[in-house]
Order: sequence, then structure tokens, then C-alpha cells
Amino acid sequence: MLEGRNIIVTGAASGIGLAAARIFAGYGATLMLVDRDEAVRAVADGLPGAHSCACDITDPGALAEVIARFPALDGAFNNAGIEGAGGALLPVTDYPDEEFDKVVAVNVRGLWNCLKAELPALQANGGGAIVNTSSVMGWLGAAGMAAYSASKHAVVGLTRSAALEGAMLAIRVNAVLPGAVATPMLTERGFVANPDFAAAAASAHPMGRIARPEEIAEAAAWLLSDKASFVTGHTLAVDGGLSAR
Ligand SMILES: NC(=O)c1ccc[n+]([C@@H]2O[C@H](COP(=O)([O-])OP(=O)(O)OC[C@H]3O[C@@H](n4cnc5c(N)ncnc54)[C@H](O)[C@@H]3O)[C@@H](O)[C@H]2O)c1
Repeated sequence: MLEGRNIIVTGAASGIGLAAARIFAGYGATLMLVDRDEAVRAVADGLPGAHSCACDITDPGALAEVIARFPALDGAFNNAGIEGAGGALLPVTDYPDEEFDKVVAVNVRGLWNCLKAELPALQANGGGAIVNTSSVMGWLGAAGMAAYSASKHAVVGLTRSAALEGAMLAIRVNAVLPGAVATPMLTERGFVANPDFAAAAASAHPMGRIARPEEIAEAAAWLLSDKASFVTGHTLAVDGGLSAR
């Protein structure tokens, strides 16, 4: 499905990005795997033809360097993100301002940096596709996670706006909106910080379980592929029916 495509994946050392790296490689993509965690190098070493860059998406210069090393770009999965406050659920009045700033710096400004570096590279290569990872919290409010929810609403706005700008340039821009996914963000942080949330997460989804990271990665692969050739500006919930309630 992605044969011969040069694709960047951010947040590729863990969770959804790690699953995407494996699945996209299986579909024939040549990958540039980006993560601030050095473990991304070992992920690339285990995949045929994959490259890696251990860098932080909050640094615009880092993304420019990635593009310089990987110029004939066909696609990008802008997936790196953080939940903030170690996954603790805190009302606005108690949420530390510095945590709000960190969440916005990665989830909004970091993704902005990625778009700014990727869009000209895609245009220079005759077009391509971008998928951004938002969240169902990019559509819905989330008590105790206002900063995260706000940042993921911003990802929807960036996705739709970039899609309109790219439409006549053969650049499609879409977003995936996962429900709860079994990645370290939840299993090692969110569920640990909030045992009540861990107990309720499965039943909150009409399908009675949370997602496997591969289920989000498969949706992203489809949006990046030519099978989604007339899909742009779309926000695709992959949430077991959570947002249909
Ligand atoms: N897990 C869920 O339930 C869930 C639900 C909805 C949306 N999401 C979103 O999915 C995306 C992936 O999350 P995950 O669940 O796989 O989490 P994760 O913590 O397992 O993986 C996130 C990866 O992003 C990397 N990263 C974080 N900040 C970075 C930065 N500034 N620069 C480079 N790399 C950075 C981390 O090192 C990590 O490897 C995030 O955008 C998250 O908000 C997750």
C-alpha cells in the first residue's frame, strides 16, 4: 500500500508511532523515524531501509535537518505528542501553567514545526499526504485534561487549514482521532496516575475495550496511501464508537 514511498513518522520510539513504523515498513515504505528518545535508533535498525533522527519536534531546526537528509518526501505521520502532568487529571484551576506550556509546545507548536518543514518538501516532490494524530479529545472536552484537549482541538484546526492550502498542490492533510489506546501514555502513566480511569476506560468505549496501537496505525496507513486519494481535511475517529454517543 505504501510501496516506494518516503515517509516520516514522529514519535516512532513508542506506542502508536512504533506500531506505525512496523506497519508502514510492511507496506513497503522507506521511513525516517523521528523521536526525542534515542530508542528510535534501535527501531530503525530493526526495519529494512529505515533511517532515524533522535531529535525533538519542538526544535524547528531539527525538522529542517530531517528533511535535508530525506528530501524526496512523499508523506508524514505527525504523531509525536504528550499528555502533560504525567497523565494526572487536574482541573484548570489546579493545572500547572508550565505543564500547559509544555503540552502546547509539543502538541501544537511541534506539529506546526513539522508541517512547516514537510509542506514545501512535499510540494517540491509533486505532492503527497500528511496524517496528524489528534484525539477524540480534539472533538470532545475532557474534565481534568483541558490543556491536552485544547491542544488536540488545535491539531484539528491545523489539519483542516493545511488541507485547504494543500488541496490544489496535490497535498492531502488528514487527522486520526484515537480513543484510548494501550500505549505507555496510558499503561505506564495515565492509568497509573488515575486507577479509576483505568477501570472505566474499556466500558467507556461502545466496543467494550480500548484500542491496540496497530489499529490506529492501519487507519493512518490508509490515509497516507493512494487508496484515500480524494480524502483531505478529514478527521477520522478510531475510537470504538466513543464519539458516536
Ligand atoms: N494512547 C492514547 O490513548 C492516545 C489517545 C489519543 C491520542 N493519542 C496520541 O497519539 C500520539 C502517540 O501517543 P502514544 O499513545 O503512542 O504515546 P507514547 O508516549 O507511547 O509515545 C509518544 C512518543 O512521542 C515521543 N515524543 C514526545 N514528545 C516528543 C518531542 N517533543 N519530539 C519528538 N518525540 C516526542 C515520545 O518520546 C514517545 O516515543 C500522541 O500524539 C497522543 O497524544 C494517544
